[in-house]
Amino acid sequence: MDFELSLEQQRIQSLARDFANDEVAPLARAADETGEFPMHLIGRMAELGFLGGPIAREYGGAAMDAVSFALVCEELGRADSSVRGLLTVHASLVSGCIEQWGTVEQKERYLPKLTSGEWIGCYCLTEPEAGSDAANIQTTATADGESYLLDGEKIWITNGNLARLAIVFATRDRAERHKGICAFLVENDNQGMRREKMPGVELGHRASDHAHITFENCRVPASAMLGEPGEGFKIAMSALDRGRLGVAAGAVGIGQACLDACVQWARERRQFGRRLGDFQMVQATIANMAADIAAARLLVYHAAWLVDAGRPATQAVSSAKLFATEAAARAASEAVLLYGNRGYSSEYPVERYYRDIKGLQIYEGASNIQRIILARELIGREQ
Ligand code: CAA
Repeated sequence: MDFELSLEQQRIQSLARDFANDEVAPLARAADETGEFPMHLIGRMAELGFLGGPIAREYGGAAMDAVSFALVCEELGRADSSVRGLLTVHASLVSGCIEQWGTVEQKERYLPKLTSGEWIGCYCLTEPEAGSDAANIQTTATADGESYLLDGEKIWITNGNLARLAIVFATRDRAERHKGICAFLVENDNQGMRREKMPGVELGHRASDHAHITFENCRVPASAMLGEPGEGFKIAMSALDRGRLGVAAGAVGIGQACLDACVQWARERRQFGRRLGDFQMVQATIANMAADIAAARLLVYHAAWLVDAGRPATQAVSSAKLFATEAAARAASEAVLLYGNRGYSSEYPVERYYRDIKGLQIYEGASNIQRIILARELIGREQ
C-alpha cells in the first residue's frame, strides 16, 4: 500500500494550494457578502488547467487523474465552496459526461469551449417533484420530426444563468421511469429556455449561481441527444459518481479549514489566564476533528484511486461523500462554538464554513441518498 502522492500529484496540489491561498481565499468573504462570483477566477482556473482538469489533452484538458483532481477540489473547497462548486459541476458533471458519452462531433464542438472557459456548463436534473427521486422527472422530450421538444422546469441548477451549455434530462415517457429518460445538450441561445435566479437567499454558497430554468417548446435537433434514447438516467448517475467525489473532496477542504482555524484560535485566544488550547475539552474537540478529517481524506483519496484503477467506485464515492460532508459539518459546528461570539459573525470565516457545508450535505445526493446506495449494496433490494 503506497500512500505517497506522485510528484505530478504533489505539483498539482501545490499549484492548487497557492491559487486557493493567494487568489481565491482573499475574495471569499466579499463574494459571500455581495453574492457576486469573482468571474475572473474562471479564466484563471482555465489557465491553471483546473477547468478542464480531468479532460483529455486533445480537447484542451489537463488529463489529470482522479486523485489529482480531488486534490484541486480539496484545496479550492478549503478556500471557497462557491468556486469549488462551479468547478465540480462544470468539469465533473458536464465536461466529464460529454467526454464519456458524447459522439466525436459533440466532443469536438463542446469540450474545447468548456476546458478553455469560453463556455460554462450546467447540469439540469433536479425538478420540483424530482430531487432525491431523480427517476421521477416530469420534463418531457417529445419527438417531432428530426427534433425533440423539451417542456418542463428545473430548479437549483448550479451555474444555470452563467452557462452557455446545459445538459438537460427529460423523459420520453414518464411511465417508463428511469428507462424513459434521455439527455440533451442545449445551447443557451435556444428560444425555448428561460432562466432566472432561484428565489430567496441561500443559507450558504452565496456567490454561486443557482437558477430556475423553464423549457417551453424548446426545440433541439435529434443530434443534440447525449448517448442513446433511454440512456439518460445512467448518464446522470455516472456524472454524479464523478461529481460526488469532487463534493467529498471539497468537504475535506472545509473540514481542514475548520481545523486550521481552531488550531490557530486555540493557540491565540486566552481565557481564565490560559490559552484555549490548554483546556482538555478544547484539546479533545480539536483532536476528534483532526481524526475525522484524516479519515475523510483517506476515503476520498481511496475512492479516487479506485477510479484511476478503472475499478467500480460508486460505493466508495458514496462512503466518501457521506462521511466527509458529515465530518466537515461536525467540524464547522465545533469551530463556530469554539470561536464563540466571533464565530457567530462573518468577521471570521468559520461562520461561512458552517453555512456552506449544509449545501454539500444536500446537493449531488443528500446524505440519506448515499446511505441508500451503500445499504442497497450491503443488504440488497426486496425481491
Ligand atoms: N452508474 C451507472 N448506472 C447506474 C448508477 C451509477 N452510479 N446507479 C444506478 N444506475 C443504473 C442502475 O444500474 C439501473 O439500471 P438498469 O435499469 O439497467 O438495472 C438504473 O440506473 C436505475 O437504478 P436504480 O434502480 O438504483 O434507480 P432508483 O430510481 O432507485 O434511484 C438513486 C437510485 C441512487 C436513489 C438515485 O435516484 C439518486 O442518485 N438520487 C439522488 C439524485 C441526486 O443526486 N440529485 C442531485 C442532482 S445535481 C445537484 O444537486 C445540483 C446541481 O446543480 C449539480
